[in-house]
Amino acid sequence: MPKTTEEIRLQLRSWPEVEDYLQRCKGVIIPLGSTEQHGPTGAIGTDALTAEAVALEVGRRSGVLVTPAQAFGMAEHHLGFAGTVSLQPATLLAVLHDMVLSLAGHGFERIFVINGHGGNIATARAAFAQAYGTATTRGLAVAPRLRCRLANWFLAGPVMAEARQLYGEREGHHATPSEIALTLHLEPSLQAKQRPLPEAAPAGPIHGPDDFRRRHPDGRMGSDPYLASAEHGSRFLDLAATALSQDLTSFLAEEP
Ligand code: NI
Repeated sequence: MPKTTEEIRLQLRSWPEVEDYLQRCKGVIIPLGSTEQHGPTGAIGTDALTAEAVALEVGRRSGVLVTPAQAFGMAEHHLGFAGTVSLQPATLLAVLHDMVLSLAGHGFERIFVINGHGGNIATARAAFAQAYGTATTRGLAVAPRLRCRLANWFLAGPVMAEARQLYGEREGHHATPSEIALTLHLEPSLQAKQRPLPEAAPAGPIHGPDDFRRRHPDGRMGSDPYLASAEHGSRFLDLAATALSQDLTSFLAEEP
């Protein structure tokens, strides 16, 4: 049941509307991003902007409520670059745990986290494990039916296939043309930053912020974001929303 973006934003609902919603749907979407450097030409908010846009589109198509974006993620290794704001893994774990418990306490049973940042994956999974335990020890009514799922839009099969087709090896691993394309579609002012860049340092192991900056002096990992265009971004948004909407539908229908 497609809705308008206004209808599915939790921020714009009243509490009686949320109570009514829970009578017919137990699902909710949390956009999870990061606020971190994306190379010399990419926006600091790339991962949060993209996760929220995909979440709102999935919400609009499915009619499932979308919480405000959690725009700060685990970005410790990007702290060597100005503008990055990171939560330590333990902090992000606590934030996600508390968000899940708040929602579960109201009767939400299916928490669908749409993530825009690879560095959040391990911590999000840990948060889910901890939330299941707490829901049980607190004796929440939904505990036996509570399920959390992590949906990484940039890892969806059709998104990765399109990125490979458009950019080949130059997709890289950080500040990728696919994610930058989506930001160009969402925020046309970012087009002014686009310029040709020298070959990026290849992807490698990730350690602390100083080591990251030494290995990746301009912040990119093997990517060529100059290949990105707003037209590509519009396509990535559609591919991601289609793939994740299917995933959400099966998640909501899953038997506990
Ligand atoms: Ni990113």
